[in-house]
Amino acid sequence: MRSVREIKVFENIPILVRAALNVPVENGKVVNDYRLRRALPTIHFLAERGARVVLIGHLGNKGTETLKTVAEALGALTRGVSFLDETVGARARGAVRDLAPGNILVLENLRRNRGETTNDAAFAKELASLADIFVQDCFDTCHRPHASIVGVPKLLPSYAGFLLEEEIRELSRARSPKRSSLAVIGGTKFSTKEAVLTELLKTYGHVFVGGALANGFLKASGQEVGKSLVSDADEGSIKKLLSNPKLILPVDSVVVNGAIVDHGLGTVEALAELAVRAKSILWNGPLGKYEDGFTDATDGFARAVANSKACSVVGGGDTVAAVERLGLLPHFSFVSTGGGAMLQFLANGTLPGITALEN
Ligand code: 3PG
Repeated sequence: MRSVREIKVFENIPILVRAALNVPVENGKVVNDYRLRRALPTIHFLAERGARVVLIGHLGNKGTETLKTVAEALGALTRGVSFLDETVGARARGAVRDLAPGNILVLENLRRNRGETTNDAAFAKELASLADIFVQDCFDTCHRPHASIVGVPKLLPSYAGFLLEEEIRELSRARSPKRSSLAVIGGTKFSTKEAVLTELLKTYGHVFVGGALANGFLKASGQEVGKSLVSDADEGSIKKLLSNPKLILPVDSVVVNGAIVDHGLGTVEALAELAVRAKSILWNGPLGKYEDGFTDATDGFARAVANSKACSVVGGGDTVAAVERLGLLPHFSFVSTGGGAMLQFLANGTLPGITALEN
């Protein structure tokens, strides 16, 4: 995989950059520009060297949202940003042709075109026709076999951007933790966590299962979970993971109307104790029904990690937002911009969008 640093000529060259533009938007405003700030080093590196920077990305998964508001938010962070309400075709090619060296053009949401998610060869070709070079910098979508992730790299000389390189370096390191280590996996869906839990149980000293994900494990271990949300898991798979003594579960719960909504104080204290002793901590997924305001366990654990001396890695949209809300992000060693991509990378050590750059 070649680095963006290895590009030889920049001046006046149209460079297509797949960037992390999928940010939360509410009432037509970007409410968290964290991913955009993380996209800046690659954008600046190219723009400062006189490239014509063409940004492509997606927003949401319905294919209806516009990237116009995102382009405006990016324009508040850096200069020379313009937006075109199309992704491919004659107008897009014309806008790229007219783009001045060092300026940045944001094209419309890739997912407005069905060919993006189906990895349609003709759509990938249209995208590739916009530029001479491709830079992949969107780690958070590298687990999707989409046109801008696996299709375009086959058609253009392709390079990894700084954000992608950093994610690969830091998460590869997190796959080989130091001796005393704690992994905390929360959230809801078992199907998206099974592979990562299996992998982490091989390398981490303690693997805590939290959030609604824990309910299926508590139930399988014979505990009463009442009306709690129980994930999509089959009991056999859960029991297999449960048989590993490194796997740990909440020891107490906050219950509202017969359903578990958060972990209790005893669980947070137990986790804090493990965090103090740990040299490596990995965390993805909130611990309670965070979206409904049950934030105590998540907040308590975030503080414990921030106070520990461990090398700490956190990821997942809701988890990062929770840590950021507490102002604790600077206390974490590395913050991944990936949610599903982070989990899949931790499970497999690579992603389709990374392999595509290696060919
Ligand atoms: C994310 O936010 O996790 C990525 O941008 C991928 O988005 P997706 O889940 O809609 O593919």
